[in-house]
Amino acid sequence: MEGVTVVDHPMVQHKLTLMRDKERSTKGFRQLLNEIGRLLCYEVTRDLPLEYVDIETPLTTMRAPRLAGKKLVFAPILRAGEGFLEGMLDLVPSARVAHIGIYRDPATLKAVEYYFKAPPDVAERLVILLDPMLATANSAVAAVERIKARGARDIRFVCLLAAPEGIKRLRETHPDVRIWTAAIDSHLNDHGYIVPGLGDAGDRMYGTK
Ligand code: URA
Repeated sequence: MEGVTVVDHPMVQHKLTLMRDKERSTKGFRQLLNEIGRLLCYEVTRDLPLEYVDIETPLTTMRAPRLAGKKLVFAPILRAGEGFLEGMLDLVPSARVAHIGIYRDPATLKAVEYYFKAPPDVAERLVILLDPMLATANSAVAAVERIKARGARDIRFVCLLAAPEGIKRLRETHPDVRIWTAAIDSHLNDHGYIVPGLGDAGDRMYGTK
């Protein structure tokens, strides 16, 4: 599917299966989300440009590669997106963080914003939006619109599970935003949940209901 990367690495797939299991504990779920976050970060940054610089090792001089492109901003969509953040920051400790507080109204499934805070230089950075579940894409579309309004031009979206409906909506609304996901599930049910899915990611992370 154009613009969509399914991260089919065996470690990611194994951990995702553990997370789908309804018997997984809150602690286990959170831990796994963190671990997969790190692995997805590895994949979403795979094509970052490098430049060559002269350095001295203890033995000799050499030209060695280092990251050359834009600096990163991780932008979790609260609250479930927070589950990815620690793993991502483990890999890119110098990244900035934007918080986007959006919840979906359970009756209308529409996105409602309640908080937004982003670094001032977001326009010069690569923004990686984080939300474990790309379901209707209402929150994702609202988050992309919000961060674009702040000047962001280079945006990627990372999720754990995506529904075909959500991918279609996000890609049609924002074709410039590429998506990385660990799996594309079958469909959305009448309540906007991904099937077979893993339930409500936020509730499972935090032990709420
Ligand atoms: N959000 C979730 O947490 N789970 C779903 O299945 C859909 C949206």
